[in-house]
Amino acid sequence: MDALKVLVARRAPAAVLDKLKARFDVDYHDGEAPLPPESLRERLQGKAGAYITGTERITAELLAACADLRAVCTMSVGYNHIDLDACTARGVLVTNTPDVLTETTADLGFALLMATARRMGEGERLLREGRWKSWAWDFLAGADVHGTTLGILGMGRIGQALARRGRFGFGMRIAYHNRSRLPADVEAELGAHYLGKDELLSQADHLVLVLPYTPESHHCIGAAELALMKPTATLVNIARGGIVDEDALAAALRDGRIAAAGLDVFEGEPRINPALLTLPNTVLTPHIGSATMPTRLAMAHLAADNLVAALTGAPPPTPLNP
Ligand code: DGY
Repeated sequence: MDALKVLVARRAPAAVLDKLKARFDVDYHDGEAPLPPESLRERLQGKAGAYITGTERITAELLAACADLRAVCTMSVGYNHIDLDACTARGVLVTNTPDVLTETTADLGFALLMATARRMGEGERLLREGRWKSWAWDFLAGADVHGTTLGILGMGRIGQALARRGRFGFGMRIAYHNRSRLPADVEAELGAHYLGKDELLSQADHLVLVLPYTPESHHCIGAAELALMKPTATLVNIARGGIVDEDALAAALRDGRIAAAGLDVFEGEPRINPALLTLPNTVLTPHIGSATMPTRLAMAHLAADNLVAALTGAPPPTPLNP
């Protein structure tokens, strides 16, 4: 019997490619950039499976044009780029890569929080540009992190990993808001206080966004929400750019309605809202939350293992639509 055809739509580690080539007839897009939607559609013709990342959009229209597709395995925990309902309706199995990136992504979230609160981006730029004149008592004086209130919006795995860092590493008070409240024993372990969203916004010294991007969470941090925050507060987004209304955020940062923002994700990435680029009180990183070599390898292997399982009749390790 001929091997099933699969598309590996983004560059992948050699060991992962070998794993897939041992089972399937692999069409490999070995490019720096994602395939344009038209090419993705063409390359998916006759394919039973797709190994993708967060940069390939799997829409209902695309699915309708790819009748042979049975499995879509994304090397990402987020899956807002996949129309899950349309996949389920067509019997296309979808998997993601949770757990293996939790601690690494929380590390980046905390690093961004620290860099933003302590104005490290400003300091770095100033120093490199030869603008450092002298020590002064208030020179680049930022906000404390230890002993302050860490607000977490979205208390899934990564939110809980952030809470642990804040509580046990920095003696922070942990406040959170989530669609559903954590079990009492988990709240107790994390020392986490459940608050309404508005209360969370007004009490947090540092607010980290870790919620999934859905139609409900689109621009859920806008002018009204930013107005509830402390003028000394820091906002960090490691979830998805579309959760924040970037124009409203830029205005709040410019007018001193909040102190600073650390952003790893952007609504139109890799295009960045120009207003965010020119503000001194932003620290901007290019969507690198899970970007360590061990974690990226673990994600890539998990995505490949999911694809092998899905197309060979075994239960995939991390399905989204069982
Ligand atoms: C994820 O895993 O969802 C990261 O944001 C990379 O897309």
